[in-house]
Amino acid sequence: MRTYLVTGGAGFIGSNYIHYMFRKYGDAIRIINVDALTYAGNLENLREVEDRDNYTFVRADITDKEAIQKIFEEYDIDRVVHFAAESHVDRSIRTPEVFIKTNVLGTAVMLNCAKDAWELPDGSYREGKKFLHVSTDEVYGSLEEDGGYFYETTPYDPHSPYSASKASSDFLVKAYIDTYHFPANITNCSNNYGPYQFPEKLIPLIINNALHGKKLPVYGDGKNVRDWLYVDDHAKGIDMVQEMGRLGETYNIGGHNEKQNIEIIHIILETLLEMLPQDDARRAHISKDLITYVEDRKGHDRRYAIAPDKIKAEIGWEPETMFKDGIKKTIAWFFEHEDWMENVTSGEYQKYYDEMYKEK
Ligand code: NAD
Ligand code: DAU
Repeated sequence: MRTYLVTGGAGFIGSNYIHYMFRKYGDAIRIINVDALTYAGNLENLREVEDRDNYTFVRADITDKEAIQKIFEEYDIDRVVHFAAESHVDRSIRTPEVFIKTNVLGTAVMLNCAKDAWELPDGSYREGKKFLHVSTDEVYGSLEEDGGYFYETTPYDPHSPYSASKASSDFLVKAYIDTYHFPANITNCSNNYGPYQFPEKLIPLIINNALHGKKLPVYGDGKNVRDWLYVDDHAKGIDMVQEMGRLGETYNIGGHNEKQNIEIIHIILETLLEMLPQDDARRAHISKDLITYVEDRKGHDRRYAIAPDKIKAEIGWEPETMFKDGIKKTIAWFFEHEDWMENVTSGEYQKYYDEMYKEK
C-alpha cells in the first residue's frame, strides 16, 4: 500500500485533495495528514474520512524538525504532497515573518527530512519515492492587462511577502533537485475556488457577505484579473503530475478562466439569485448596492494567467470545470453547509480538534 504524507491537509486545497485521493484510490493508499491547525486548518473539512483505517492525522508544525523526522521514522512514506503554508496575501502584508518561517523554513525542513529518509549511501534514492511541492502562479509576478501568459520559463518576479516566500520555497526545491538529484516536482497553480475555502478569500467572502446582506469589498478599481480553477481540477492535476510528470520538472496548472474581480462579484450575485428559492428571505438584500469600493491592496498584482500547455502536452491534464458550473457547485456546497460557514466565521471550528481528538 502506497503511503502519502500530505502537509496542510486540513486547509482548503489539502482537504479537497485528500477527499479526491480517497474517492480515486479508496483503500489502496494510506494518507498521513500533518497539519499545525493554524486559523486556516479545520478538521471539520475531513469529518467524512477521519474514521478510515487508512487515514491518520498528526498535529505538528512543519518547522519542527524532530516532529517531522518522527513521522518519517514511524511510517515508510512513499510520496510527500506539500501544501502546508501561510496562504493569504493580505495577511502577509501585515505579518510577513510567519510567512517566511512556515513557507521557507518549513519547506526546508520537509525537504531535509524526506531526503534523509529516502537517500541511499550512493546518493540515489529509494525506488518510487517522490516529493511534490504545491506552489502558486504569484511567483511569476504580474501580467499586463492586454496580453501574455505565465509559462514555466517565465522569470520569477514576486511582489508580496507571500509570493516572495513561496518563490523562496520553490528555489529551495529547485536547489535540492539540482544539487542532490532529489526526486521532486513543483506545480504552480492559479487561483482555486470550491468547497471548504476559508472566507477571507474573495469568492467565499463574497458569497457569505451577500447572503448576510453585508458590504462586498472591492479592492481598487475591481479590474484586477485572476485565472480561476475549480479545486478538484487542481487535485487531479497534482495527482497526475506525481504519477506521470518527469522528475525535476515544474508544471503550471491553470484554469483558462480569466475574470476581473468585479465580474466575479456580479456572477456570484446573479447565481445566488438564480439558485435561491423564490420565498427565501435573503433574496431581499442580495443586490449590487452592496458592492463597495475600498482602498487597494498594497502592491496589488494586476493580472495572473497561466498557460497550461506543458501539463496538457506531457501529461494530458486540462481544466474540466467551466467557471459557470464550478461557481454553481461551490454555492450549492455553501448552501448545504451553512453550519460549516457559521463555525468558521464564529471561530467555533477551532474547538473541534479538542473535542474530536481528546481521547486520541
Ligand atoms: P490554506 O491556508 O487554506 O491551508 C493551509 C494549511 O496549512 C492549513 O490547514 C494550515 O493549518 C496549515 N499550516 C499552516 N502553517 C503550518 C505549519 N507551520 N505547519 C503545518 N501546517 C501548517 O491554504 P490553501 O489555499 O489550501 O493552499 C494550500 C497550498 O496551495 C499553499 O501552499 C498555497 O501556497 C498553494 N496554492 C494555493 C492557491 C489558492 O488559490 N488557494 C493557488 C495556488 C497554490
Ligand atoms: O494565484 C494563486 C493565489 O490565489 C494563491 O497562491 C493564494 O494562496 C490565494 O490566496 C490566491 O491569492 P489572491 O490574492 O489572488 O486571492 P484573494 O482571494 O485574496 O483575492 C483575489 C482577488 O480579489 C485579488 O485581486 C484581491 C481581490 N479582493 C480580495 C478580497 C479578499 C477584493 O477585491 N476584495 C476582497 O475582499
